[in-house]
Amino acid sequence: MIVIRSLRKIIPLLRKYKVRNKSIGFVPTMGALHKGHLSLIREARKENDIVVVSIFVNPVQFGPKWLWLSEAKPRPSGLEDFRRYPRPIKKDLSFCLKEGVDFVFLPKVKEMYPEGFKTYVMVEELSDVLCGKSRPGHFRGVATVVTKLLNIVGPDNAYFGQKDAQQAIIIKRMVKDLNIPARIKVMPTVRGKDGLALSSRNTYLSEKERKDALVLSRSLKLARDLIKRREKRAKKVILSMRQLIQRKKKAKIDYIDIVDISTLKPVKKISKNCLIALAVQIGKTRLIDNIII
Ligand code: PAJ
Repeated sequence: MIVIRSLRKIIPLLRKYKVRNKSIGFVPTMGALHKGHLSLIREARKENDIVVVSIFVNPVQFGPKWLWLSEAKPRPSGLEDFRRYPRPIKKDLSFCLKEGVDFVFLPKVKEMYPEGFKTYVMVEELSDVLCGKSRPGHFRGVATVVTKLLNIVGPDNAYFGQKDAQQAIIIKRMVKDLNIPARIKVMPTVRGKDGLALSSRNTYLSEKERKDALVLSRSLKLARDLIKRREKRAKKVILSMRQLIQRKKKAKIDYIDIVDISTLKPVKKISKNCLIALAVQIGKTRLIDNIII
């Protein structure tokens, strides 16, 4: 496994494999790797000759401003701190090595956003709803960094998780709209035995908070059960989910929405191709989860 930190090295190196007709599978991550990431890496390993994993905590998706530039300024409340994001690099690298990853791209912020950087990618409408409402600029940051990474790596296949359903939908749209020649593959959400969707952010939770965090998956299970019993009214399902979550004092609902899977517009009547998505703040940690009906 080779760890590469510079664009100067990675671009010509991967082009060599392209010329030799080797397929490249790419898994972009922000590190703090867990079994959710693992499922993407394993799928990439299965389907491609070469596997590239990027580990880059992308500052631009953390807030409306480049807060990370001004170390002295406190972050506005409610925004996740870019500096606080877990970075267990050694552990992540041995994780990749064990999974047979060929290349890890580990750029510094300055490598990805050198002075004078001015170009961003915006995926309209899809970025303004669900998580986009409470995290302004977040998907602009995601779309921008993923475009850059896809251009740098030039993969045949790129792997994303259903856990971040809105992100996957936005990236699929963007790749289509911008004619980026990569296939986007979306893998199912990996959960703990207790049902909690695995996330790097779970490391922020105390033991008690982790228990409270189970309300996310439980409320989705409740929604699924109600729909199985032929409840079709989105309003009714959302209300039941809300009531279940509100029983936990430490849980603050950001949103619960039932939307069309391709437009992300709210639906009144639940039918096929609906996404039920929610974001809940548990203590200071904002967690998301979703299911597709
Ligand atoms: P990160 O949160 O590290 O996630 C990297 C990839 O792993 C994403 O595609 C995410 O959906 C997937 N993933 C995370 N938890 C998962 C789980 N429990 N089951 C299945 N897949 C899971 O998402 C990002 O990083 C960033 O926004 C990124 C795309 C790298 C751009 O900076």
